Amino acid sequence: MRAKRSRSDLAYYGGTPGFAEDIRVGTPNVPAKERYLELVNEAIDRRWLSNLGPLVRQFEGLAAQRTLRAHNTATNNATTALQVAVKACGVTGEVIMPSFTFVATAHAMNWIGLTPVFADVDPETGTLDPRSVAKAVSPRTGGILGVHIWGNLCDTAGLDDVAREAGVPLVFDSAQSFGCRPLLPGPSGTAEVFSFHATKILNCFEGGLVATDSADVHARVRSMHNFGFDEAMNVVGPGTNAKMNESSAAMGIASIEHLDDMLKIYRAHYLRYREGLAAVPGVTLMAAPDGQTHNHQYVVVQVDPEAAGLDRDRLADMLGAENIRTKKYFSPGCHRMRPYRQDAVHTPVDLSVTEALTERVLALPTGLSVTPDDVDRISDVIAAAVRYA
Ligand SMILES: Cc1ncc(COP(=O)(O)O)c(C=O)c1O
Repeated sequence: MRAKRSRSDLAYYGGTPGFAEDIRVGTPNVPAKERYLELVNEAIDRRWLSNLGPLVRQFEGLAAQRTLRAHNTATNNATTALQVAVKACGVTGEVIMPSFTFVATAHAMNWIGLTPVFADVDPETGTLDPRSVAKAVSPRTGGILGVHIWGNLCDTAGLDDVAREAGVPLVFDSAQSFGCRPLLPGPSGTAEVFSFHATKILNCFEGGLVATDSADVHARVRSMHNFGFDEAMNVVGPGTNAKMNESSAAMGIASIEHLDDMLKIYRAHYLRYREGLAAVPGVTLMAAPDGQTHNHQYVVVQVDPEAAGLDRDRLADMLGAENIRTKKYFSPGCHRMRPYRQDAVHTPVDLSVTEALTERVLALPTGLSVTPDDVDRISDVIAAAVRYA
């Protein structure tokens, strides 16, 4: 790509696009195609394609080494996993959660008759702010759902204090945070849910996982995710079909064997963006907090329109003209979406940090399909976009 040395070099102003083909946020990682095909071939020959097969069991064992939780149940996606997890933990009524998340967090609750109640997030990490949650607690509160957004872990200890005080279960949506762990063991909820959707660092085409240290919660999750059956195939309670299939598990096994290598690549891209964007006024990489392992699943910048001379939407358009497909993760906040914006029950507290972040955040391409050179080129385009805004 020719460096963007003048305004007219930018595709937005008529120049040649920096990338001949689209470069996207969330292109699936396929680190071990042959191994996947081998495993899926074996599953087909066994004629054991679903119903808690050997590959699902194997994947659960491998995932457990990463979640560090005693009990791990693989599921068909994280949306159903969230529903199973909160039901297994006894969440009822209103659930306090961030508005600043992917809509699945709110939809999953709403779909099973729970009421999302949105609290604000921390401006540095984008994760649920325990002080805001405390303000949102009411006699109707039946649970708290923290979201480890972009791989940034919530203030788990702070949320645990609020949950204890309120006497309600604390559950975590870790959909974006496989591979992230606190360095020190700490309180971290009665259950947490991971996603292995195609766009996630580790993918199973579609998939999810409920992880818990509680044997009781685990027993309920196992049963609920399989039509309410117990081990003896008696129906012992309510249930749904949230089971992972063998093909998804094969993809999970093949990919998890490369997780450490993938984490290194994501971290290298994050550091490279940090260096490349350090001198660009008004475009700030969202912090990856210290004191945790991070998967850098998303590289997110915050655009300050005053300092940058252009706003987030304009920057996204300018990058789009170069075939750089960014994502406004997460914008708008759930409380601005139609199912949640009509009813004041969803917004009992101030959401000003959420409002500001949703106007400013932009996720940049990263992952296995992105090269270090791509990262440099994208950073250069951002610098030029700001320079010639
Ligand atoms: C924060 C969050 N929660 C829930 C989900 C839903 O995950 P899935 O697509 O596996 O159902 C996602 C997925 O993108 C997510 O980012």
